[in-house]
Amino acid sequence: MSTTTTHTALEVLFSREQIGRRVAEIGRQIDQDYAGERIVLVGVLKGAAIFLADLARSISVDNTFDFVAVSSYGKGSRTSGAVKLIKDLDNPIEGKNVIIVEDILDTGLTLNFLRSLFEQHQPKSLRIAALLDKPSRRVEKIDADYVGFTIPNQFVIGYGMDFAERYRNLPDICLMPPDEAVGLAAPELPAR
Ligand code: PRP
Repeated sequence: MSTTTTHTALEVLFSREQIGRRVAEIGRQIDQDYAGERIVLVGVLKGAAIFLADLARSISVDNTFDFVAVSSYGKGSRTSGAVKLIKDLDNPIEGKNVIIVEDILDTGLTLNFLRSLFEQHQPKSLRIAALLDKPSRRVEKIDADYVGFTIPNQFVIGYGMDFAERYRNLPDICLMPPDEAVGLAAPELPAR
């Protein structure tokens, strides 16, 4: 079901209410899975910031935040696929229950890289929460433990997700209008 926002006529894929309900469900699931434990939520900047903020407030078990940032080379053209860490964890995760929090699981390159990296730190447990999952785009074999919504290969913006750094603040998850994307795009659209 899709509607349009009143101010920009963007097509809404998931409304703020739908997102809120799903994030609350994931929070309850995490509460059950980690009852009596402590967890570290590691957000992947920048897209995951808003999901992490809401997810953390849906979780009752004791939790702390950390953030990493990565850069992907050849992301548009998929010529390289190399991922590089550009902001490391602030605090050690050895012996901790870690949940990597992502806005979107697309090719899997980013999360595969981070999972391998974090495993070297020997956390007590390591799971992945991704608000959106695009399995049709997968290059690396990786699944999230918690998924908000599974979507086809659509270019989505809002709720943390950008196009050329814009639209992250939209409360709903919207579809990027093809005409606008063409007008603003570099020669090749980014993956999302
Ligand atoms: C997006 C998203 C994930 C990654 C997923 O980040 O936030 O980190 O791409 O794609 P993958 O599964 O193909 O690796 P992006 O590089 O757009 O940066 P941003 O979070 O700052 O928007």
